[in-house]
Amino acid sequence: MLGLKVATDGAWAAVALRAPDAVLVDHAHCEMKAASHALSLAVRNAADLEIVRGLTDLAREEIEHFQQVVAILARRGVALGAPPVDVYAAELRRAVHGAPRTPEWSPLVDRFLTGALIEARSCERFKLLAEADGAPTELRGLWRDLLAAEARHHRTFVDFAVRTAGGDRARVGARLEVLAQLEGAIVIELARRRDDPLRAAIHG
Ligand SMILES: [Fe+2]
Ligand SMILES: [Fe+2]
Repeated sequence: MLGLKVATDGAWAAVALRAPDAVLVDHAHCEMKAASHALSLAVRNAADLEIVRGLTDLAREEIEHFQQVVAILARRGVALGAPPVDVYAAELRRAVHGAPRTPEWSPLVDRFLTGALIEARSCERFKLLAEADGAPTELRGLWRDLLAAEARHHRTFVDFAVRTAGGDRARVGARLEVLAQLEGAIVIELARRRDDPLRAAIHG
């Protein structure tokens, strides 16, 4: 799905739904991190105003998602708490940074493709949650709405990458294939490393 090379374990959603509040808390933090990541990319890459506008639009939308999830947490009487370390995103960024590239290849293109992969993984997980037996109606609706948004964000990041790579969509597609292999390996490795590989979290 959306270029991902490794599918999430089919049992994950059922296990995650046994702790819906934990999923929601993790999800809320993911939305805020997505917003702040988009903003930091915007300020560090202000040369292309079209991309700056796109990234700030994206950040605004992620903030809206955050607020949607926080409203549900408030109704359920669940506190947000401090953000957990997103080991998945950190490992992915490290792996992408270390991936061999030709001297002219812009690290910014890779950063956009990393964003595209994280959006794809979120989208996949929301789909699994939305379609799982026993998902509460209110949450099923939330996840269904958000999986469509995350699929769109995936395409937005790929488009930013193509624009930054001078319009070379074929080359960006080939690079995405390489980075998607790294992402898949991280998903497998994190599941292997954890005592609870099916834990109630959107990433990893
Ligand atoms: Fe989002
Ligand atoms: Fe997103």
